[in-house]
Formats: sequence, C-alpha cells, structure tokens
Amino acid sequence: MPGVWAVVVAAGSGRRFGGPKQYELLAGRPVIEWSVCVARAACDGVVLVVAPADVAPHRSADAVVAGGDTRSASVRNGLAAVPDDAEVIVVHDAARPLAAPELFAAVIDAVRGGADGALCAIPVTDTIRHAQHGTIDRAPLVAVQTPQAFRAAALRAAHNDGADATDDAALVEAAGGRVVVVPGDPANIKITHPEDLVIAAALLGTRP
Ligand code: CTP
Ligand code: MG
Repeated sequence: MPGVWAVVVAAGSGRRFGGPKQYELLAGRPVIEWSVCVARAACDGVVLVVAPADVAPHRSADAVVAGGDTRSASVRNGLAAVPDDAEVIVVHDAARPLAAPELFAAVIDAVRGGADGALCAIPVTDTIRHAQHGTIDRAPLVAVQTPQAFRAAALRAAHNDGADATDDAALVEAAGGRVVVVPGDPANIKITHPEDLVIAAALLGTRP
C-alpha cells in the first residue's frame, strides 16, 4: 500500500519511568494502544517497533518488528519493514499517547508541500540554564515533539550510515535535508516520569 506509513517506536526500557511505560494503563488502555491507534487513523500503514521479547501480531499494525539498543536503531528496524513505495514516513514515539490526528495531518501536509521533513514543536516555558554558560535566552528555543514526517527517501538516506540522534529530524538535517517546524501541542506530552501518566490522564479528562 503506497502513501503514508507510520513507524511507531515502542522498544525503549523506560529507565527514567522505572519500567516499560508504554504498557502502563492510561484511562484503561495501554499507552502504546493510544499511540498506535492514532497512527492507524492518520496513516495508510503502521509499523510497530517493540522490544524483541514483545514481538507479536497487533490488530492495528501491519507489521510488528523488534527494536534496537537506541531509538535511532529502533527507527531503522521499523523503516526496513515499511514498503519501498511509501512516499511519506511518519515517525512517532509510543510514549506520546495524546498526539492528535490533526498533528499528524499537519506534519504530513508540510512534507506533501515540499519539505524533506516536518516536526512539531512548542515554545520552551522554563528558564533554561547551560551547565557551563549559565542562563540562556529561551526566546529562540522550542521543545521538539513527535509525530515527525519525512519524504521517505530523505529519511531512509539519513539513517543509511547508522547514525544516532534523539530524533529523526536532526538526522535528516545533518544529511542536508530541509526540515520545517509546525506548531506542536502542549497537551502532546511525552510520558517520561511516573508523574507524566497522572498528567496525561488529567488531560484526557478535559477532552470533549
Ligand atoms: N525507544 C525505542 N527503542 C529504544 C529507545 C527508545 O523504540 N532503544 C522508544 C521508546 O519506547 C519511546 C520513544 O522511543 O516510545 C522515546 O524514547 P524515551 O521517551 O526516551 O523512552 P525510553 O528510552 O523507553 O525511556 P528512558 O530514556 O527513560 O529509558
Ligand atoms: Mg530514551
């Protein structure tokens, strides 16, 4: 199936959370289910990447593959399962269960409009301090989220040499690609620490 494919990465160990947070329940449903279901709704195909011990068929994913030691390695394993004729590939963290379909649409549209990649990001609200240089001006800073969409060829090329980065946009830019930024959503939080699960449940409660 050509078109838009999602790679949902869920192979992390959740060191900061204290365990594999993607399987924690959020409003009665595992975090990973929220993330896979929005990807399913927003894209033509879904590849789910999980820890090797967790590989099993998933009703909302077209393929389930084993991840690697780093997030980038997990993305690469997912990419290998995306059909060659996919035009746009969206990478999404399973740890962001509250991403809205509109956010997927926004990054996909930006790539359809000609960018090599598109990420969503929100302004930084905390005062940011550099360990050596002290407080830095936050005005030009944004906090980067997923989903991130890419021209499939640009994402595959950026991952070709096995490089590592905390997100895919950084790899595509390092490979010379043009990445645009679309407005993110403050409610699209990443479950990182146990407190984030409480916040996510509260945010879900505010949805219509
Ligand atoms: N991830 C992955 N493979 C890895 C590492 C991370 O698929 N080797 C995924 C996580 O499952 C998560 C997303 O990448 O959905 C973002 O990573 P992060 O929030 O850092 O999750 P963890 O790496 O699991 O957490 P921690 O860094 O605290 O160990
Ligand atoms: Mg991590």
